[in-house]
Parts: sequence; C-alpha cells; structure tokens
Amino acid sequence: MRMLLKNFWYVLAESTFIDKAPRKVRALGQDFVLFRRSSDRRIVALSDVCVHRLASLGGGQVNGDCVRCPYHGWSYGEDGGCTAIPANSPGTPIPKKARVDSYPVEERYGWVWVFLGDLAPEERPSIPVFPEMNQAGFRVVRGEFTWKAHFTRVTENAVDIAHTPFVHRNSFGNPEQPVMPVYDVRIDGTALTAEVELEAPTSRGFAKWMGTGGKNRLGLGIYMPNLNRIDGTLSNGWRTILFLSNLPIDETTTLTRFIQVRNFMLNPLADGLAKQLSFQILREDQPTVEGLYSAIEPRVATELHTKSDAMSIVYRQSLKKYVDLGWQIDHRHVERVRSEEGRILLIPSPRRRETDLEKAWVLDEAPMVEATLVMGDIRGR
Ligand code: FES
Ligand code: FE
Repeated sequence: MRMLLKNFWYVLAESTFIDKAPRKVRALGQDFVLFRRSSDRRIVALSDVCVHRLASLGGGQVNGDCVRCPYHGWSYGEDGGCTAIPANSPGTPIPKKARVDSYPVEERYGWVWVFLGDLAPEERPSIPVFPEMNQAGFRVVRGEFTWKAHFTRVTENAVDIAHTPFVHRNSFGNPEQPVMPVYDVRIDGTALTAEVELEAPTSRGFAKWMGTGGKNRLGLGIYMPNLNRIDGTLSNGWRTILFLSNLPIDETTTLTRFIQVRNFMLNPLADGLAKQLSFQILREDQPTVEGLYSAIEPRVATELHTKSDAMSIVYRQSLKKYVDLGWQIDHRHVERVRSEEGRILLIPSPRRRETDLEKAWVLDEAPMVEATLVMGDIRGR
C-alpha cells in the first residue's frame, strides 16, 4: 500500500496564497479549507466538508472570523464549531454535532504549516528550524514543482548521492567520479542528516560555468517524513541551501515547494537565474523519479541496498517506525468506503480526543493501519 502518514506538520500553502477568500487545498488524499480570520489575520485550517449536506466550504466566503458555507450559510470558526445556522429562528441552540475537524496552523518561512493529526501539542513533532532563512548575507528565492510520484520517492531522491553522476551529469554531477564516499547518518528526533564531499566536475556543468572545481561539500537532510534540507558549498565558498517540502497531495502526486537561499550573486537580478538552476535539477530528476515502478515499501526488503544508500536505509527504518506507531492512514479503506457506501472518512483532528466531544462528529475518522508500537517505545531511539 502506498503510505500516507498522519501526525506531522505539512506545508499546505504559501502564506501569500491565503488572503480574502477561503482556499480549498488537498493533502494526504483529503480536502481542507484555509482562510484568514478578519480580526487578527490568523489562518484557520478546517476539513472542507460541511456536515450539513457535505458542501465544499472552500467555495464559500470568509465571514468575520468564520468561513460561511456556500449552500445554506452555516458558519464555522477556528475551533471547527458552527457559530450560525441562518435557517433556524434566532435563539435556537446550535447542535453539538454541527462541527468540522479543525487542524492546528503555524505560519513559518512564508509557508502555512498544518498539523494533520490528533496528537496533543506536547506529543507533536516540531517544525524544522531554518536559521539561514532571514539571515543577512543570504538571498531567498522560492518555487514549486509537481511530480507524478509518491512523496517517499521524491524525498529519498533529494538525498540519494549515487545518482548524481548519471542523472545530473550536465549540471553538478561528475560522471568521471561515480565512486561515492562512505558516510554516517545522524538521527536526531525526526531529523536524519549526513555530510559528504563530492569531487566537482571541471569540464562540464555548473562548475565549469562558475569556474570552480575541487570538492563540493554537501549536507544531506531529511526531516520526517517529507522535508529535505540540502546544503551545498562549492570550493570557492559559494553556498546554496535548498529547503524542500514534498507534500503528498495523494498517493500518486507530490507537490514540492522549495525555498532556496544563496550567499553569492546577491543582486536581486540574479534571482531568476538562481531559481532556474533549482528547476533544472528538479527537471533532470523528474523522468527517473516518475518512472520508478513503485513507492517505498518500508516493511520488507523489496530492494537491494549498498553502502552509498545509507541515508535511504535510515529513511526506510524511520518510515517504518511511524507505520508501526499506527500513523499510516488506511487509505484503501477510506477509498472503498467512499466509492461503495458514499461515506467520507477524515483524518482525525486533536479535538476528536476531547472527552466532551467524543460523540460530536457526523463524519467518522479514517482508520489507521494497525499499530505494533506505542509512543514510549520509540523515544530516544
Ligand atoms: Fe453547508 Fe448546508 S451544506 S450549510
Ligand atoms: Fe537528483
């Protein structure tokens, strides 16, 4: 089964995308509505499905601090509770079940991060820190790129060094030096990192154009389950850091948003070129990544690994931990129930765990693939 995981912070939009109108966005095979409250401009993330007649809230309007459904005008606030049912006479109490799932939101680095899961605040993985983002001496560009591929393949590809002499032979890869260095992977919570040095090509690609050779230093990073940090420094000190959010739209589509910072060519006129270089690399990867026969299957050794795949091996082990914790959405079940019974199942939000709201949900939650571990088992591993 192609894995989708709850209980992580996912980047659902650029901050600038959420303004006056509600926006419907898709992630993990489910639709959400994002809107800004009028009073304090904070962003709210709710399930897009109105529980009255299952209209899409994204087609509605922002009404003060609520989103108003386009069909019969029910309004929903930040906590997902309905605040107005216009067809009822004034003073009629609003039923407890008139509510939709609401998901925690943080705006950081110009991105809207939404916690898609039901963990209490202290149990949630944290949003990665990106210190160079607003630091003097760095210039920032941003972009996005869609893949017809599973997010695990996209995330793994970004840290897969052994493909660079082949797939990137016309940019930063060195076809004369296919032997990869041995490296250690550090695991720190949800961050997997490694450092390597790769011999830069001198006769072709970016290095020729930039007049650099020698060793390229490369910091590889995965923040589980779908973010990358790739920190590259050329021998002349030019440094580029790529921060990638590979959002699983569904089981077969991934939307990569990137933030690229650089410490050279700081003139804004160079932004277009800097961005093009990132797109060139992604386009070089695209045919191979989209052509892979399957998503990563963390449970069994269905592929053969070698030494240079150390990062990929740790990534799989880490994915397996979260599957074993019961964080894998049973997507097959969700799709079957939807097509055979017409019922919509939703990723549970934190409020589903509040005891006074236990029976307050019209739409059932999506089941997870059965857990074999409890949270305490993985702490410190
Ligand atoms: Fe949303 Fe009726 S469907 S108010
Ligand atoms: Fe690549």
